[in-house]
Amino acid sequence: MAEQQEKRKRVFSAVKPTGNPTLGNYLGPMQHWGGMSDEYDCLFAVADLHALTVAIEPKELKENSLRLFALLVAVGVDPEKAIVFVQSHVPAHSELGWILNNYTMFGEARRMTQFKEKSEKAPENVNVGLFDYPVLMAADILLYKADIVPVGDDQIQHVELCRNIAERFNGRFGNTFTVPEWQTPKSGARIYSLSEPTAKMGKSDGDASGSVFILDPPETIMKKFKRAVTDSEMRVKASEDKPGITNLLNIYAAATKTTVEQAEREFCACDYATFKTRVGEAAVEVLRPVREKYESLRRDDGALASLMNAGAERAKRLAARTMEKVRKRVGLLPL
Ligand code: AMP
Ligand code: TRP
Repeated sequence: MAEQQEKRKRVFSAVKPTGNPTLGNYLGPMQHWGGMSDEYDCLFAVADLHALTVAIEPKELKENSLRLFALLVAVGVDPEKAIVFVQSHVPAHSELGWILNNYTMFGEARRMTQFKEKSEKAPENVNVGLFDYPVLMAADILLYKADIVPVGDDQIQHVELCRNIAERFNGRFGNTFTVPEWQTPKSGARIYSLSEPTAKMGKSDGDASGSVFILDPPETIMKKFKRAVTDSEMRVKASEDKPGITNLLNIYAAATKTTVEQAEREFCACDYATFKTRVGEAAVEVLRPVREKYESLRRDDGALASLMNAGAERAKRLAARTMEKVRKRVGLLPL
């Protein structure tokens, strides 16, 4: 009996090379990306075009992009199994982004909370790219017909918009795009700042003492955890009025692959100082192999450049198929 081979689902995600990747980036989406290749066809990108939406120096963008590409490999994404590449190396992202602009309503784009937050944070640079950012993100996803988009929970709204754009386009022109699903991890979908536990742990915003960077040396990580803001109670328990402790429990659960409830039980007899040290140690241990792999990869930037080119070539081939179909559907003359 000829067995029908089930088609593997496709995964796409990206990170933008602004600032320094954090423990939040790692525990949220990135730590899961390496293992996904066993089950899915995966593509992971350095979203450098997205980085242009914020004020960034050319030299910094270049170094950040290289660092992030190396980090994608260092967190366990195998460039033989997954396609790892830099967004701007595949011009079809910009091309599809422009086309999709015309099937995105101004009103729906205006509802994006990240746009509102970022505009408030940098009122001197509310550029059109910042507004259009989620449409380019939709192009990233739809270009590869991704079924699943693994992200932290701040990106859910953008993936929802992508679904709307895909459905609108398919409704008008016939089935063209796969309507993707977002996927967030059970713990770690939102890691908060250690110094301000109601604000997201960010790569470039907030003060550096609240963000743990993936490449921080262990002493720095420990120092940051020891200074983490807690509260005046002495109870290691997650609750809404204890954002600092809740965040630390979440970090511990995501770093050691347990649950918050298990972590609460483990630390129920602990004082805050011991608890913070233990969470710090868990973060150090989960990041150690990533930093070591990263350092070894950065000893040969030439080899990284070859990997980058190979990834771009593979991505381009997939993207070209979608673009041919899209061009035809909307009525652009064939090349
Ligand atoms: P970004 O740093 O904005 O480029 O985000 C890259 C990926 O990391 C996205 O999937 C985000 O949702 C995720 N992410 C960013 N910051 C955090 C955080 N503090 N906690 C969990 N996930 C995060
Ligand atoms: N917007 C995402 C972020 O800031 C990064 C990103 C760009 C992305 N393109 C994407 C994430 C496509 C998932 C899918 O985190």
